[in-house]
Amino acid sequence: MKIQWYPGHMAKAKRKMKEDLPLCDVIVEVIDSRCPNSSRNPEIDQLAKDKIRILLFNKLDLADDERSKLFMEDFHRRGFFTLGIDARNRASVKRVSKLIQEASQPLYEKNRKKGISSQMVRAMVLGIPNVGKSTFINAFVGRSTAKTGNKPGVTRGNQWIKLDKNVQLLDTPGITWPKFEREIVGYNLALIGSINDDILPIEDLVFYFLKYLVRYYPKAILERYGIEPEEGEAALSIMDKIAVKRACIKKGGDVDYTRVSRLILDDFRSGRLGKISLEHPGKWSDEGDEDSAV
Ligand code: G4P
Repeated sequence: MKIQWYPGHMAKAKRKMKEDLPLCDVIVEVIDSRCPNSSRNPEIDQLAKDKIRILLFNKLDLADDERSKLFMEDFHRRGFFTLGIDARNRASVKRVSKLIQEASQPLYEKNRKKGISSQMVRAMVLGIPNVGKSTFINAFVGRSTAKTGNKPGVTRGNQWIKLDKNVQLLDTPGITWPKFEREIVGYNLALIGSINDDILPIEDLVFYFLKYLVRYYPKAILERYGIEPEEGEAALSIMDKIAVKRACIKKGGDVDYTRVSRLILDDFRSGRLGKISLEHPGKWSDEGDEDSAV
């Protein structure tokens, strides 16, 4: 199944980003820690190859700690400055200022050599929809400068925000892929709410997710629903059991798959299933991801 999702405003956002990139020294890319690969825009690496790159692993509170740590180490090795944050928490966000200053040292040095004493750096925040860019900027700047919204793909006008005497921040709309080259990316983005819920049938999405949970996080199923997956038990059978436990049954006695799917998805998105990551560090290759259950 190929997902085609490239609304008109994404093309506009991408054009604007290309225009704004030359104005910035530092790129602060916000990603969702639960799926660092799927929630990055691979095109940015090419577009911003001369920039100082900071990768903010947001929603760290929802992701598997061990996997997040390994992912951060991996991206650090690839030349990124990385930091795990919960954008809703001002204390965690405050560390970003320090990181921008630290990351900008080579730039300051270069400027000094050219006789420029100003240490002003211009940074740009970007990321795909719903990763928490607006929440981050609000917490970072300390007032409600950027509008948050729960609709994937909501765009905002760009604006410069002066953080302190050394850093200016440009808030830009999120951009995403023109096409989803791997199936698993579409599923992951749908699970984290970065593409609209009506793009994929929710029952298919949650069936995929349950297969993944049975394989990697069976304890989460036990702890949340009191159901212990049996050896080799099919995801559908577990879905049925959850439906019975949570009274997601239609009048005639059939399982209400839409309701039970919504319930499981809400539990995942809100963190009630515990800290769950959708990707493994080091398993992302062009040949396909072995996690793909579809
Ligand atoms: P965007 O600009 O990248 O599109 O994302 P935005 O800031 O609008 O955030 C999307 C949703 O993610 C918001 O929830 C926001 O509260 C939540 N969020 C952002 N950062 C974090 C984080 O570090 N941890 C957790 N758990 N959630 C985070 P929402 O339900 O859409 O809105 P709201 O009800 O929270 O206002």
